[in-house]
Amino acid sequence: MTNNSHYQQILSEIYLETKDSDDPGKVASYIPELSHINSNKFGVHLITSSQHHISVGDSGEKFSIQSVSKVLSLTLAFNLIGNKLWERVDVEPSGTAFNSLVQLEYEKGIPRNPFLNAGAIVVCDVLVSELNNPKDDLISFVRDLSGNTSINYNCKVAASEKRTGHRNIALTHLMKEFGNIKNDIDIVLDLYFDLCSIEMSCKELAQTFQYLVNKGINPINNKNFTSASKAKRINAIMLLCGFYDEAGEFAFRVGLPGKSGVGGGIIAINPEQYSIAVWSPKLNMKGNSYKGFELLEAFTTKSNSSIF
Ligand code: DON
Repeated sequence: MTNNSHYQQILSEIYLETKDSDDPGKVASYIPELSHINSNKFGVHLITSSQHHISVGDSGEKFSIQSVSKVLSLTLAFNLIGNKLWERVDVEPSGTAFNSLVQLEYEKGIPRNPFLNAGAIVVCDVLVSELNNPKDDLISFVRDLSGNTSINYNCKVAASEKRTGHRNIALTHLMKEFGNIKNDIDIVLDLYFDLCSIEMSCKELAQTFQYLVNKGINPINNKNFTSASKAKRINAIMLLCGFYDEAGEFAFRVGLPGKSGVGGGIIAINPEQYSIAVWSPKLNMKGNSYKGFELLEAFTTKSNSSIF
């Protein structure tokens, strides 16, 4: 059996098994607009490095990718200022929740990594400093990465988070006090809320992240979006920090670099093999998709295809 038909068979089987299993998770409601989603949605899309697509369930339906988008803003900021970025944000796992304030004070306003909310806000600050039209330039970069001009922000979701995002506002003020936010707080936070509101389907996500499968190049348009060395580093940060205080568990059970979002999406990368995106809106206690996690664990185990 070829790898492609092997993957297809496994994904079809485990999709049905996981779909029917109990889900103790809960849909994110601290961003009110996210709570309206049908919690039974479940989709998965895999794209191999040779551009073979496998899709199951609700893989063509757009959802709020939330923190998954932090990988894309990181890529753009890293391309723009290179290693200077690491003077403002570290690359260490945090062992804390994505929106935690405690560590940030001990560590003098330098976030542990770019996927924590604080780290992604610093990345947005860099984008505000470096880009002429940060909101337009960021979405153009994401559209280019995905080869899809329909990718957009959802202004209702961004506005909903802006109204209720008190922790993110607190994190930004704390970092401003330590000198690690250079621009106006409202401008930086607006870009951050827009970033988190980007919508994609599983298919679009798997397509967008092909550049991390193929050393910086997206084979759908053969464009080089970052260097091989930067792609290596971004995958490394995903492996160590992509799931916050559950990053160890994800590496242990799934064994791939990945990134989650509170919209219930997860992207995972098997370098030089495939990208796989899963969406199931109910989240576990750590804010990661419960069934997304289950499906990816079953997939890498049954296909024997993790990085380890
Ligand atoms: O800032 C927030 O809380 C959300 N916009 C994003 C958080 C998120 O997706 C964490 N990931 N699991």
